[in-house]
Amino acid sequence: MLVGILKDEAEVGKVAAEHVAKLMENADTLGVATGSSPLPLYEELRRMYEAGTFTLEGKKAFALDEYIGIAPDHPERYRNVLRTELVDRTGLTEENLNTPDGGAEDLTEAAAAYDASIKEAGGVHLQILGIGADGHIGFNEPGISLVSRTHVDALTSQTRKDNARFFEGDLDKVPTKCITQGLGTIMEARNIVLLATGANKADAVAAMIEGGISSLCPASILQMHPNVVVLLDEAAAAKLTQAEMYRTRWEVLR
Ligand code: GLP
Repeated sequence: MLVGILKDEAEVGKVAAEHVAKLMENADTLGVATGSSPLPLYEELRRMYEAGTFTLEGKKAFALDEYIGIAPDHPERYRNVLRTELVDRTGLTEENLNTPDGGAEDLTEAAAAYDASIKEAGGVHLQILGIGADGHIGFNEPGISLVSRTHVDALTSQTRKDNARFFEGDLDKVPTKCITQGLGTIMEARNIVLLATGANKADAVAAMIEGGISSLCPASILQMHPNVVVLLDEAAAAKLTQAEMYRTRWEVLR
């Protein structure tokens, strides 16, 4: 893992956008995440699109996950979030935005179809990730199989509490289930960039980078991936014991 410890959230967004633009120049498929962590990155990509230095024109995007049991027009439905953030504002078209179908009658079939659609598109070239306070990526919560494929999962109470801010602070309005790419699916992306900011991510970030590989921290599986860049602000990096090593490696290798 190449770990960049940066000044603040804005810097994380800027460096992430440069990285995305570079890796997507000659690639066709971008894996996109939701949550608040990638928002500064998406803002920067929109700015670069307007300036003519970045485009997703002709490229496909694949979302990580989707809520189950959310109204199709709900602004927090992940397809709607990604539509608002990226479609027509970065060169991405509605047809090229792929999201798991959380409204499908047969969710098992929808999960398998989603994996197949990623494969058919040639796999994800670069996957953008955030991380949950409990170490989840996508919606792969602690205890999930490290080789899981796209599947239906339950949200932990921690994640539902964390996400209540997107649902008027009302826990009862937060869906209880989701459909998410599995850890095995995510690990097939050729490159991964993970963004984490804020003190509430510091424990999960330390477990991901320096803990043992365990489904207790699903993101720790990324230690087994050869091309991961982790971009942190100082607060999210605060519990790393080898920060000086990471800073040196970042300066030399980035
Ligand atoms: C959400 C999403 C994840 C996201 C994570 C962190 O529930 N399913 O893809 O990375 O939780 O969210 P945030 O960036 O808002 O802290």
